[in-house]
Amino acid sequence: MRRQIVAANWKMNLTLQEGEVLVKEICGGMPALAPHNTVVIAPPFTHIAMVSAGIAGKEQVASGAQNCHHEAAGAYTGEVSAAMLNSAGVAYVIIGHSERRQYCGETDAMLAEKVNLALANGLEVIFCCGEPLEVRDEQTQNQYVEAQLKAGLYHLTAEQMKHVVIAYEPIWAIGTGRTASTEQAQDMHAHIRQTLNAAYGDATATATPILYGGSCKPSNAAELFGCADVDGGLIGGASLKAAEFLGIISAMVGK
Ligand code: 13P
Repeated sequence: MRRQIVAANWKMNLTLQEGEVLVKEICGGMPALAPHNTVVIAPPFTHIAMVSAGIAGKEQVASGAQNCHHEAAGAYTGEVSAAMLNSAGVAYVIIGHSERRQYCGETDAMLAEKVNLALANGLEVIFCCGEPLEVRDEQTQNQYVEAQLKAGLYHLTAEQMKHVVIAYEPIWAIGTGRTASTEQAQDMHAHIRQTLNAAYGDATATATPILYGGSCKPSNAAELFGCADVDGGLIGGASLKAAEFLGIISAMVGK
């Protein structure tokens, strides 16, 4: 059975103390997960050790990071490397989030380097893709997303792809309250799986989890996760409140 994942992307929110309370509430209220379920919590770098300590002993809950640098080490003030994340017990790293592409000037070439370094350092990659509104309006979203995947990801071997999760996050749905319809989500996820099939064949296409992100909440998670090719979610705003995040986790368990 394909892995299903609900991942929290806290973005630049919560103090260490607020985060600690949230992790306790999430762990305390966690429903029994199915064997193929994983919950990931990706806080800011400063909170990673706290999250790792807070989830200790919970086998199906993993800590994540929101980024890593595209160089292995060196004079890059303020940056954090993939090797550092691995040494801090991080299991997953989000790469290519639209906010980093947009605000931090991350290019396809940089993202490909980040992916290589993350995998070389034993991290699981959550690779983000997704189109802006004007591309959706032009109905060219399939080509746009395919190009992002080819540039950032599809240079990997099938063996490396076993450590990659794809997250489809339409930019027009992020933090806007405007969720993709189940039809829009399923259509894109099926398209992404087709591109995987064309690049790697059926085994990789079938095994790779594809998460949805963008205004996912407890009230729409079950419907979205009910789509055949949606294997969980990458959650922003609703991951900052225990009750909401737990509601989304329950939707995954119930799939
Ligand atoms: P929201 O859930 O706040 O729309 O954010 C989605 C996202 O960007 C997760 O990475």
